[in-house]
Amino acid sequence: MLIQIINSTTRNERFSERVANWVVEYTRQYDGVDFEVVDLRDHPLPYFDGPSPMWTPGQHSRDDVARFAATVDRADGYIMLAAEYNHGYPGVLKNAMDWTYQEWHRKPISFVSWGNMGGTRSVEQLRQVAVEFEMAPLRHAVHILPDIYMKAIEKDVTDVSAFAPSEPWLKVLTDDLLWWTAALSKARGERAGN
Ligand SMILES: Cc1cc2nc3c(=O)[nH]c(=O)nc-3n(C[C@H](O)[C@H](O)[C@H](O)COP(=O)(O)O)c2cc1C
Repeated sequence: MLIQIINSTTRNERFSERVANWVVEYTRQYDGVDFEVVDLRDHPLPYFDGPSPMWTPGQHSRDDVARFAATVDRADGYIMLAAEYNHGYPGVLKNAMDWTYQEWHRKPISFVSWGNMGGTRSVEQLRQVAVEFEMAPLRHAVHILPDIYMKAIEKDVTDVSAFAPSEPWLKVLTDDLLWWTAALSKARGERAGN
């Protein structure tokens, strides 16, 4: 099983880098499942201007889009690292997702977010988007509040110790995500093509 940890912000000095480091370090303890970071900085895509990928499954006219789609496609589940920009999720993430469609189907997605309200508004919106992508957005999430955010930002980007109080929530998230990932992987395998 492969879980992708998607870093959805690309700006200079982004906080998401620290969250990604924390999630990567925490998930190392899980045997029998691979975790990999997908960084949207590695997938710069133009403004979406194609036909709806809903009607052209698996066909991508651009190499950069095809590479992003193939990356997403090989995962069995996702942990989305979600900032909150103006009470929504980052536009760069939506733009990247709009280039794809079926690659996300029938797979679970969990969320780790941050912000003044823990990024909760961003995550609620992303859950709605996930449904349209025929995904299974899960209940358990980690919402990093300003007390932890402020401590983490003062440390070196590789020092993830400030996130320790959130670890119990990340455990619940990961355990639950792996349950759904196993269940849906099996179901997708049994009903391939349906
Ligand atoms: C354009 C912009 C809009 C923002 N809007 C919000 C917001 O609505 N709510 C919030 O809690 N934080 C907001 N913030 C603060 C972000 O939570 C904070 O900058 C966070 O570090 C963003 O993640 P990033 O550093 O990975 O980009 C905003 C930041 C930016 C750059």
